[in-house]
Amino acid sequence: MTAPTRYAEALLTGMLGTFGLDVEYVRAEKNTLYHLDDSGAEVPVLDLVGGWGSLMLGHNHPEITAYAKELLDTGWPVHSQHSAHPVADRVGAVLNGILAREFPGAEPYSVIFANSGAEAVEAAVKHCEFDRALRVKSLFEEIEWHAGTALTAVRAGTAALPDDTSLLPGDVPAPATADEFQALLGAVAAHNMGRAATSPVFFALERAFHGKLVGSTQFTYNPLFRAAFATLGPAVRFVPPNDAAAFEKAVAEERVTVLDVEVADGRVTLVERAFPVVAGLIVEPIQGEGGIQELTGEFAARVRRICDEIQCPVVVDEIQTGMGRTGKFFASSHIGLLGDYYLLGKSLGGGIGKTSAMLVRQSRYRPEFELVHSSTFAKDGFSTAIALRTLELLEAEDGAAYDRAAERGERILAMLRELAREFPDVVADVRGKGLLIGFEFADQSQASSPVIREKALAGLLVFQLGSYLQLAHRIRTGPTASVPTMLRIEPSIHISDEEIAQLRTGLTEVCRILRHQDALPLVLP
Ligand code: F0G
Repeated sequence: MTAPTRYAEALLTGMLGTFGLDVEYVRAEKNTLYHLDDSGAEVPVLDLVGGWGSLMLGHNHPEITAYAKELLDTGWPVHSQHSAHPVADRVGAVLNGILAREFPGAEPYSVIFANSGAEAVEAAVKHCEFDRALRVKSLFEEIEWHAGTALTAVRAGTAALPDDTSLLPGDVPAPATADEFQALLGAVAAHNMGRAATSPVFFALERAFHGKLVGSTQFTYNPLFRAAFATLGPAVRFVPPNDAAAFEKAVAEERVTVLDVEVADGRVTLVERAFPVVAGLIVEPIQGEGGIQELTGEFAARVRRICDEIQCPVVVDEIQTGMGRTGKFFASSHIGLLGDYYLLGKSLGGGIGKTSAMLVRQSRYRPEFELVHSSTFAKDGFSTAIALRTLELLEAEDGAAYDRAAERGERILAMLRELAREFPDVVADVRGKGLLIGFEFADQSQASSPVIREKALAGLLVFQLGSYLQLAHRIRTGPTASVPTMLRIEPSIHISDEEIAQLRTGLTEVCRILRHQDALPLVLP
């Protein structure tokens, strides 16, 4: 039988083909994907990509698939938009219970559902801007009120005219009469209108990954994913992770003020007030795609303080790190980073549904947002019910799943660290938390083997090594586009000691290949 013409991502599939990775998988369970060999027999492959982190509970978890069948068999409504959704509220209740446990004293959070991680990011970005616009509106209403009060007081003779107008640009003379003061208020309003036109700015961290839609790609640091689309989205300023001083400096550079009038000690005075130009800061507690980099508690604390001072919401993107992957439900709880927003995706769909969620602290939540943001598929009956069941499975037995993620992660990390000690010449670093792990090779761009050197120079060595692991050891690992020397390891909590041993065997061979610069197994695995 000839292979069908490729219409769906033919270029990408072709590229995978050059590494022998264009395999069609026909069945999946736990950490194993199966493809068929020429005789039609199943070939198991240990899957450490884990659906880019969407498989905390493994492929086709039996309780989740049984529940999915039950939903379909009983005719559970999948699409019942514009009706009550108590199941969605229960998802919110479970998430709020978890938040209260991991962040004692945290206030309740409202939930907006979406369909993918990037969409949750965009919902948060929109909500941040919606909130900022409403804060701008209140600020101007307040200033207008103050202006009216001051004018009344001046006309009534209960307040003296302002004698200092230096805050207004240009040499504006101090008013000598109530009418001149009224004209001055007009100049203040015009000045403020000019400032109000300042576009909002968002902050994100260098190496960040927040998705690839038109808006979210602006927050994704890697120029490969962003540069071509940079003209399309919101202004995002990147600052280095774990450098709070750099963030503080950048925030200060963005400071914009407007003018207000105050009546103090019987005199009208012009005063400056901060204009909310910074719409939000978005961070991953552990950068995933950016190379498994953890934020420090110190950075988190200082960032929280700086953001509180300027009322800038902190959006914590837990799409990759959340759902217990790092041993706690929210990875940000390891560093005590309390977000104004939390984003969840990936494993929230239990490995079969596609759903994501944006949580907003209720004192910052703008309920009107619900009237301007929606999607046909968001909060659908199927994915939401699956999300609830997934959360129940994770929370069962006092969160045994989180403990297991921590324990399995430690075991894998310990094994990888042993390898790093055995092969310090070829392993640059092992890092991660729980089941979010990176294994970084030393730079091979000066390698004596031409095959290894060329692949390293092209940024494709991990694909070549991944190809070898797949073909010779039946292990699937993931790359990170931002760190071309790193293998990403994100298995489910079901990873067994035998599977960890299988990984050790495969990686030991990879390390030997690099140490001995013996590329033959790479080309003929
Ligand atoms: N935020 C983070 C932290 C992510 O890791 C991802 C996706 C997204 C947002 C976007 O989610 O793909 O559902 O739209 N990360 C994958 C990765 C693709 O490579 O780790 P999405």
